Amino acid sequence: MDIEKRVDGLMSQLTLDEKVGQLCQATDANERNLALARQGRLGSILNVAGPEAANPAQVSNQAQRVAVEGSRLGIPLIFGRDVIHGYRTVMPIPLGQAASFDMALIEEVAGVAAREASACGVHWTFAPMVDIARDPRWGRIAEGGGEDPVLTSRMGAAMVRGFQGKDPSHPERIAACAKHYAGYGAAEGGRDYNTTWIPENLLRDVYLPSFKACVDAGAATVMSSFNNLNGLPATANTLLIRQILKTEWGFDGFVVSDWDSVQELIPQGVAADKAEATRLALAAGVDMEMVSTCFAESLKALVESGEVPAAQLDDAVRRVLRTKFRLGLFDRPYVDESRVNALLADSHRDVAKRLATESCVLLKNDGALPLPPDIRSLACVGPLAEAPADQLGCWAFDGRGEDSVTPLAALKEALAGRCEVTYVAGLDHARSSETKGFAEAVRLAAKSDAVVLFLGEDAGLSGEAHCRAFLDLPGAQQQLVQELAEVGKPLVCVVMTGRPLALSGVLDKVNALLVAWHPGTMGGPAIADLLLGKASPSGKLPASFPRTVGQVPIYHSHMNTGRPPSPGMSDIPTGTPLDPTGFLSGYLDVAPVPLFPFGYGLSYTRFAYSELKLSRDSMPVDGKLAASVKVTNTGPVASDEVVQLYVRDLVGSLTRPVKELKDFARIRLAPGESRTVSFTLNADQLAFHTLEGKRVVEPGAFHLMIGGNSRELLRAEFEVRG
Ligand code: NOJ
Repeated sequence: MDIEKRVDGLMSQLTLDEKVGQLCQATDANERNLALARQGRLGSILNVAGPEAANPAQVSNQAQRVAVEGSRLGIPLIFGRDVIHGYRTVMPIPLGQAASFDMALIEEVAGVAAREASACGVHWTFAPMVDIARDPRWGRIAEGGGEDPVLTSRMGAAMVRGFQGKDPSHPERIAACAKHYAGYGAAEGGRDYNTTWIPENLLRDVYLPSFKACVDAGAATVMSSFNNLNGLPATANTLLIRQILKTEWGFDGFVVSDWDSVQELIPQGVAADKAEATRLALAAGVDMEMVSTCFAESLKALVESGEVPAAQLDDAVRRVLRTKFRLGLFDRPYVDESRVNALLADSHRDVAKRLATESCVLLKNDGALPLPPDIRSLACVGPLAEAPADQLGCWAFDGRGEDSVTPLAALKEALAGRCEVTYVAGLDHARSSETKGFAEAVRLAAKSDAVVLFLGEDAGLSGEAHCRAFLDLPGAQQQLVQELAEVGKPLVCVVMTGRPLALSGVLDKVNALLVAWHPGTMGGPAIADLLLGKASPSGKLPASFPRTVGQVPIYHSHMNTGRPPSPGMSDIPTGTPLDPTGFLSGYLDVAPVPLFPFGYGLSYTRFAYSELKLSRDSMPVDGKLAASVKVTNTGPVASDEVVQLYVRDLVGSLTRPVKELKDFARIRLAPGESRTVSFTLNADQLAFHTLEGKRVVEPGAFHLMIGGNSRELLRAEFEVRG
């Protein structure tokens, strides 16, 4: 029978209490919550079973049985969990995944996460996180696609497809949840949960497209965010949810609040009490309340008194039921408990390794990498060479350190019998300032052919509520780099991190620098393959790496000022009342550009770009043009390259960014091979929002730029005709 008819059938039988119940989500399958489920007063549970459960599928089935067989109408519960970058097989953190620019692989990886999570009775993941983040102090930059709306949109859509498949009711698929809607990543000062101020045109141009992309890809649900947006918390924001998401975009799934975010409308200062918080959230378009109990306590009375229109309640309930039907929960409420055996399957680990390999970004290499085949002794140093839990990164609830293959283990295995691999941590942990281990590290380095230093952030330095005011390597790591550099052996630094770091102080002291993010369960073998030249690095930065935290926020698609940027003015004479070098836009103490720009990343070969051609030099506002470029691998090995297309709108009714990523393609070229890479640019991709909220494509001159990063680009010009 048609889903809407089945929803109608249930709606006609539900009591008011049961309707409210469908909109309530509690955490843990404890006795209290199961009792509520039995009474039909709970629609969802998150975190039903954790890794401590012998068989999470069994726990999930037991809880589901209470609702399906024990409640009056037998409506199944929907079980949610944060499956952010893999379930038991942990994949690179999302920021690392974004660095691969490989949407097909990201989709495949999300499919693996869905297979594992669904085997444990999870129906619904709170992912993808598609918040644009331009401030690496914000710890949650780790969970998303970085600074760019196009990259994050493509990635979000790929993840939705991967989680849900073509048919989300398939037993190995789960529902996606695009979060956190919206603007959460723009937290003032990079401090989590903080206020955001985002003008509506910027919101629509930069912060919302990734959500639209997820909705267009069929995301079953959306999560409203914690942040106060332009004075009105997102969870009470009618413009965001009811108007834009539900009306303009036609989203017919349901919106879940973030954890306690309905109740937090009270301390945020827009609701006096739980009843008012309920009324505001419902009116704004929130359908299900996560964890706090405002709906449970006040919604019934509000509907009875008419303060919440019955139609508003019914619409929310219909959305939840519709989603449960779409997921097949009514027809197949239980999970096959034997499927847990598939966790950590070889094929899952393979895909995790592939993505970890593609996500690493090589930022510097003076020839130290790949390590020479005849190397006889290799010193591994640093707290993250052998940190199995930390390499999983933040939000890896169901991953286990014991499943991880560390870089040290992988290097030892790969080099067994031909090179002695020794290890000293140097620092007890990534944040340690205790330098007593340095002498041993130096001694080991001195007697080895080369040194690989594994530094960065432990997993606890990024993720929710884990923000930093400094972006340097923590603890005494910088000092360790210095001491090892003085030894004079080839020094390779691998940085595991949940965010862009300020690496200026490391760069000139090391011979090679590889950013591995938190690479997940199979990070070790991926890194070993790259260090040993079995694979060539191919990741590109999904967010700019600043020189210092003082440059933040810094991103490639900024506007121009009326003044050119200054190169940095460190030679300004003292005692000068006015700067004699001119009134330029910059800092007195550092250049105004990032250390490494968006899209940057080296490989073990070189790529030459030539013959940028456009199919036409002008197009109508509803037209399109083709752009092509020849890319040649001029170096010694086969490698992947991410070809990036940017545009600039030279003169608009509003100022436009100096460049905006519009498309990209990941290609593989053998040594000496050339390929012509073509893109189609629709005029519609040039649209932006006016101050009145109107989406426009404006006639005029544009630059189209193609290259291997956002700084080194070939450029052509075209015109959009009115
Ligand atoms: C709060 C986080 O902001 C959100 O991302 C997560 O999905 C929920 N908690 C559930 O754990």
